[in-house]
Formats: sequence, structure tokens, C-alpha cells
Amino acid sequence: MRRNFLIKSVAVGAAVALALTGCSNDREGGSGDSGSGSGDAKGFAKDALIGVALPSKTSENWVLAGDLFTNGLKTAGFQSDVQYAGASTTVADQQAQITAMVTKGAKVIVIGATDAAQLTTQVDAAHAAGAKVIAYDRLIKNTANVDYYIAFDNFKVGQLQGQALLDGMKAKKPTGPWTIELFSGSPDDNNAGVFFDGAMDVLKPAIDKGDVIVGSGQKDVKQTAIQGWKAEGAQSRMDSLLNSTYTSGKTLDGVLSPNDTLARAIITSVKAAGKPIPVVTGQDSEVESVKSIMAGEQYSTINKDTRNLVSETIKMVQSLQTGAAPQTNNDTYNNGAKVVPAYLLNPVIVTKANAAEAYANDPKLSALTK
Ligand code: BGC
Repeated sequence: MRRNFLIKSVAVGAAVALALTGCSNDREGGSGDSGSGSGDAKGFAKDALIGVALPSKTSENWVLAGDLFTNGLKTAGFQSDVQYAGASTTVADQQAQITAMVTKGAKVIVIGATDAAQLTTQVDAAHAAGAKVIAYDRLIKNTANVDYYIAFDNFKVGQLQGQALLDGMKAKKPTGPWTIELFSGSPDDNNAGVFFDGAMDVLKPAIDKGDVIVGSGQKDVKQTAIQGWKAEGAQSRMDSLLNSTYTSGKTLDGVLSPNDTLARAIITSVKAAGKPIPVVTGQDSEVESVKSIMAGEQYSTINKDTRNLVSETIKMVQSLQTGAAPQTNNDTYNNGAKVVPAYLLNPVIVTKANAAEAYANDPKLSALTK
């Protein structure tokens, strides 16, 4: 009964959030009510096999996650099978890896999806074999057999990026209008649209007022997408924007970049064209971007501490092992088949001004801020 009520109120809450934000139904709202998903009352052996299927290494966070999972699961007493999708045949690789994990009898499969919409068959097979499925960082769409979702609050990431872009441009040039360009991530990654929606939640009012102008007029997520989160893709789109829209001395004040890899590619393009570097946002706190921020080039990044995301995921696995329902704190992620109970962590915006403080607990990054 209580569960039914919860599901109903979740559905209504999600619908209201949808109406208010005008977002697509891939992700709805920010932090929602506490809730809990369905645990498996039986649990499983303490040394069971846990599968971890990660996408290709498109950014540093994925490289870190693999090592952290291998070590963390071992320390927790589990056997692990940690795999990455290859660089080119990503979808087929990941599908085969998940299938192999199911065959080997994994009790939980943690998946950082390489393509949100292409894993239905594998996730359904995992469920049929009695494994739990945790979507890690990226939501898996269109199957009711995703048990949990764990990530940083993606919509908030976008909002922080949008706000940083406005703040950075105002600090450089106190009065507008400001001219910007928009970039978004890979269309097969559910996060890409959520980051973009979060950023537009902040930027659209300024665009509508005429305070901010998108120089090329390319405001649609489809026009701004960079397939595969590839640096080359961002660099060549920026090259063409500079060659089409910014040839007659028009100033580019800012660029919304969804992550650090793309931010550095955008900066490379601008430098090669001999133009001043605009305010460029980012995400992931990659070493080279933190250096760039400290050098006054990239303006901002986001700290999503992979160590925390992996350790919270391992806590979820440990709850499932005992047969308990993992802790969740958000019920607004509808994957098209159901609202997936989610645990969201808080992302932090980082600029040169707060870098030392933001990375105080991270020896590798804090060394770069000294
Ligand atoms: C992650 C980002 C990352 C991007 C590219 C996204 O799903 O959330 O942190 O920059 O993938 O790897």
C-alpha cells in the first residue's frame, strides 16, 4: 500500500517537475524525496562476482573508476570483473561484456552505459538470471530491469555550468550583451541532454532577454552535440564556428562546454585562430584542465569526485549482498519504462578562486593549486 502511494506520488511529482521545467522525460527535477528501491530479501554470497561494465575511456573519470572498482570490490571481499568498451565498437563490446558477466554468474552488474538505449536485451537477461543492475553515472533507458541509478546530480551540473558561464563573462566584461556558443555531449549518453537542459535552465532567460546572444544561432541540443564526446569533434565544430560566424571581428565572449576534454579542444581551436580565449566551462576536474584554470585559460570545471561515486556504488552492492534495499535519495529519473530509484551526489563548481578549497581532500589535484 505504502509502496503504491509512493509510486503514485513519485509519478505526480515527476509530471509536475516536467511541466515546470519543460524538460524531456529523460530526467526530471533535482533532488527528490527519500525513497528506497526493492532489495533482494535473500542477498547473495559475500565473495560473489560483481561485474562492472564501463564505457570507453572518453574522460579521466572513467579511467579512475576502473581502478577504484577493482581495488574497492576486492577490499570489500567480492570477486570482480571490470571491463571497458573499446574505442570504436563501443556498443557491441559492452553488450558482449555484460552478456559474459551474466554467464559467469555475476550477482550485481554495474553499468556505465556506452549507449543509453542499446542495452535493453542485456539488462533484461541479467535480471532474468537473478542479477541486480545498477546504472552508474549514466542512466540506462527503456527497460524496467534497471534496479538503481547512482550519479552526481546531472541537472545541477548543467545549472552550475550555465551560471559559471554568466559569472565569468560578467567578471570579464561587466555589461552585456555577451555573445556565446553552446556545446553538448554525445547524444547516445543520457547525461548529455540533462547537462544541456540544466545549463539552458540558467541561460535561456538571459538569451530570451537579449542579454546573451548565441552568435551562430545554434541553440538546439542536436546542433550542439559532439558524437562520442570526442575532442576532435569539438575542435572541428569550433573551427567552423570561428570561420563562419566570427570572421568579421565579432567577439566571442563565452562557450558552454559540457566537459573538460571538449573545453580544452575548444580552447585549442580558438588559440589556433589567433583569437582571445573566451570564458569556457567544463566538467570532471581533469588534471590538464585544472592546470589550465590555474593558468587563467579554462574558466571553470566541476568537481565530481570519482572516489566518492565508486565508494557509494560499492555500498549499494554491499546492501544488496545482505538482502537490504540500498539507500536512495531521488525519485525523478524516469528511464522511459519506470522511475529508477536513484542516489545522487552533489557536484561542486570550481574556478581559480575556489580551486584550493575544492580540492583540499584530493592530494593529486590540490598539488596543482599551490
Ligand atoms: C559523464 C561526464 C563525462 C562524459 C564523457 C558523462 O556521462 O557524466 O563526467 O565527461 O560522460 O566521458
